[in-house]
Amino acid sequence: MPAFVVVGMQWGDEGKGKVVDYVTRYADVVVRHNGGNNAGHTLMVGGKQTILHLIPSGILHEGKICIIGNGTVLDPAVLLEEVDAVRAAGARLEGRLFISETAHIIMPYHKLFDKAQEKFRGKNRLGTTGRGIGPAYADKAERFGIRLGDLLDTAVFKAKLANLLEYKNLMLEKLFDEPPLCFDTVCDEYLGYADRLRPFAADIVPMVHEALRAGRQVVCEGAQGTMLDLDHGTFPYVTSSTTLSAGACSGIGLGPRDIKGVIGIVKAYTTRVGEGPFPTELLNSSGEFLREKGREYGATTGRPRRCGWLDCVQLRRAAMVNGVTHLVLTKPDVLGSLDTIKICTAYELDGRKTLEFPGQLSKLERVIPLYEEMPGWTEDISTCSSWTGLPAAARAYFKRIEELIGAPVAIVSVGPGREQTIECVDPFA
Ligand code: IMP
Repeated sequence: MPAFVVVGMQWGDEGKGKVVDYVTRYADVVVRHNGGNNAGHTLMVGGKQTILHLIPSGILHEGKICIIGNGTVLDPAVLLEEVDAVRAAGARLEGRLFISETAHIIMPYHKLFDKAQEKFRGKNRLGTTGRGIGPAYADKAERFGIRLGDLLDTAVFKAKLANLLEYKNLMLEKLFDEPPLCFDTVCDEYLGYADRLRPFAADIVPMVHEALRAGRQVVCEGAQGTMLDLDHGTFPYVTSSTTLSAGACSGIGLGPRDIKGVIGIVKAYTTRVGEGPFPTELLNSSGEFLREKGREYGATTGRPRRCGWLDCVQLRRAAMVNGVTHLVLTKPDVLGSLDTIKICTAYELDGRKTLEFPGQLSKLERVIPLYEEMPGWTEDISTCSSWTGLPAAARAYFKRIEELIGAPVAIVSVGPGREQTIECVDPFA
């Protein structure tokens, strides 16, 4: 059975965690394929909130296999904290959680470099999460990275660390005017993590392919969103991984033909954290309304998210680069009580109307969003359990989104709880 990929279609924080948790009922295996603890997936199950940063959002379903793929970067301290939190929430992890031994490890110098680089950029800072994500992926590309498998082999780890610290300390001291890191301290700390991570380490490639061959349903869970993709996002205001559906291929070890469908998650309005262009941003009371009603504060950093109207120019580009087959709409309940709702359907660029999302940042910074206005609804839809139970104005808004993006809405999420989910079409059919 082929795999399905769940991707964020905006700038992250679309509600992928809730959606992956929901669709895990139809899955046997859930694999996270990119990013690190820059992500924050909030799950609300049985009235209890669990925030995950690395462990796949299927973990609260007893018996389902959860895998962290090679395309991720792991901060062992954060990962182990999460292991403890998930265990405390009652989940058993033995024989259920597996971590690719070729995933790269976030080291203390990555976090120091992340902060020092942001300081160096000054007013051009990216607004990173400060978790060392960029420097860890840079080390992977530069072939300086340490992988989980290296960490688990004490002799290999010590040799790599000794060699790398010489280089990294030179950079810390000479370039960033920071004190050097002590080999013994880092080594002891990380070898302590190694002992606790060893039971979860695995070669995940045969594991995932065996599941597919056996007809099991595999769901690949992306982190962040399309516009934060290193290649197709709003570079340089992006993260350092492949956040697109294609990231599931390299970040797990799948071939394109192994993927049957791509489920694109779309928040009913747009949010963004950190710096960078955001054409439909609302710097007024409407933006404030969305932030407060939608509780738009980062699950990882607590930063207030920038808010704006839905941007279908951006979403059409996201549908293209991901090969989206179905949409899941999240948080339309937040829009309730607005008299009218705006959707951006085109941009004006240098006096000309365009339907294309500019790849070049300087052009994107100049676009003026062109809006269509639709009637809002006054009803609270957070208790609706069927498509027909939704107000006509809400259905019209969702249908217009389908039309503008060119993909069917499979699921509408009307609140954070598992039960607050309306299934319209089976996305796995
Ligand atoms: P980094 O991933 O920490 O390097 O941050 C790069 C950019 O991506 C910053 O603008 C972050 O705010 C943004 N970012 C990273 N992870 C997330 C996420 O999970 N949700 C939303 N934005 C994110």
